[in-house]
Amino acid sequence: MARTFDLKTITDLSVLIGTGISLYYLVNRLLNEAEGGPLSGKSKESRQKQSQTWQTLVKMNPDLASVNLNSYERTVLSSVVIPQDIDVSFSNIGGLEDIIEELTESVIYPLTTPELYTSHSLLTAPRGVLLYGPPGCGKTMIAKALAKESGANFISIRMSSIMDKWYGESNKIVDAIFSLANKIQPCIIFIDEIDSFLRERASSDHEVTAMLKAEFMTLWDGLTSNGRIMILGATNRMTDIDSAFLRRLSKRFPIPLPTEDERRKILLVLLKDTALDKRDFDLDYLVSATRGMSGSDLKELCRDAALNAAREYIRQKRQLANEGEDVVVDMRPLKNKDFLKNLKLDARVPLGSASLD
Ligand SMILES: Nc1ncnc2c1ncn2[C@@H]1O[C@H](COP(=O)(O)OP(=O)(O)OP(=O)(O)O)[C@@H](O)[C@H]1O
Ligand SMILES: [Mg+2]
Repeated sequence: MARTFDLKTITDLSVLIGTGISLYYLVNRLLNEAEGGPLSGKSKESRQKQSQTWQTLVKMNPDLASVNLNSYERTVLSSVVIPQDIDVSFSNIGGLEDIIEELTESVIYPLTTPELYTSHSLLTAPRGVLLYGPPGCGKTMIAKALAKESGANFISIRMSSIMDKWYGESNKIVDAIFSLANKIQPCIIFIDEIDSFLRERASSDHEVTAMLKAEFMTLWDGLTSNGRIMILGATNRMTDIDSAFLRRLSKRFPIPLPTEDERRKILLVLLKDTALDKRDFDLDYLVSATRGMSGSDLKELCRDAALNAAREYIRQKRQLANEGEDVVVDMRPLKNKDFLKNLKLDARVPLGSASLD
């Protein structure tokens, strides 16, 4: 009898101890999460980056010092870019002058002079702006330059990564995007590849996705910032975007492949700090030979051309070192052949004979 009793007590006791230990770990974990935030970034570095960003924001706007952020807003801080950290401005964009001018009117003015866009003014700020066009033509670049030139904070988000990373909690992140933007306005919420998130709603949408879209739309409609918070989207598949969302992106700008004149301007911007051979570099020829190329293709072409000359320079330097010569050599200026090599065109094609647009 006594033995059975002992056995029962031991079993009960071990269950009790086991439960105690699990409870201890559970409480400990919950406490840790409450402290650091479950989403404030797993790694130390991302937490550090978030706090650095916040410190810079507070330095720029001391009123923020008394503002508290929840853990989800702190997560969104990782996607905040401060205008002075952006290295792209309108001067780095070749061509697209008309679009830049229109964007200045519809994005920068509402952000910088909100007093003109009060509720009883005839001027209204667009709720959303969409940049659309083929890949590599400068959409992301324009978005960054807009933030730089307007001095607005920039929350750059990829919805696909949010959905992947915070599945189930993504609506809290979406809430946090809007509430953080509200706290740090003027602010541009830039959604790159917006089609991957706001695509045509389908009955096959998962419940979470459908809820997220509805939540996003409600928050968007609820913006009462008179243009001091702007949603800016970029896509290369406009037709995939849900029409309800498209309606909210009322200002739309096509960013097409550059024309001949624009290619010239892009090449001039890209090559402005590069030494070019005065006798053996023909810009006109390069402009006409690059027909159909995007800004990003042109950048790649110039980079490869520079690499070609750099390779030669390194080879030459090594050779001189091997021969024991102590001569200083300079990298030679870029020539036509450096570009043509990568265009896979025959360098013997007479210059100026390429077809024009
Ligand atoms: N008009 C331009 N002037 C100068 N550089 C350009 C221009 N267009 C594109 N580029 C160069 O191409 C790179 C890629 O451009 P960007 O990332 O803005 O393209 P995108 O339109 O956003 O493409 P995607 O649709 O693939 O995201 C830029 O970083 C820039 O170096
Ligand atoms: Mg882009």
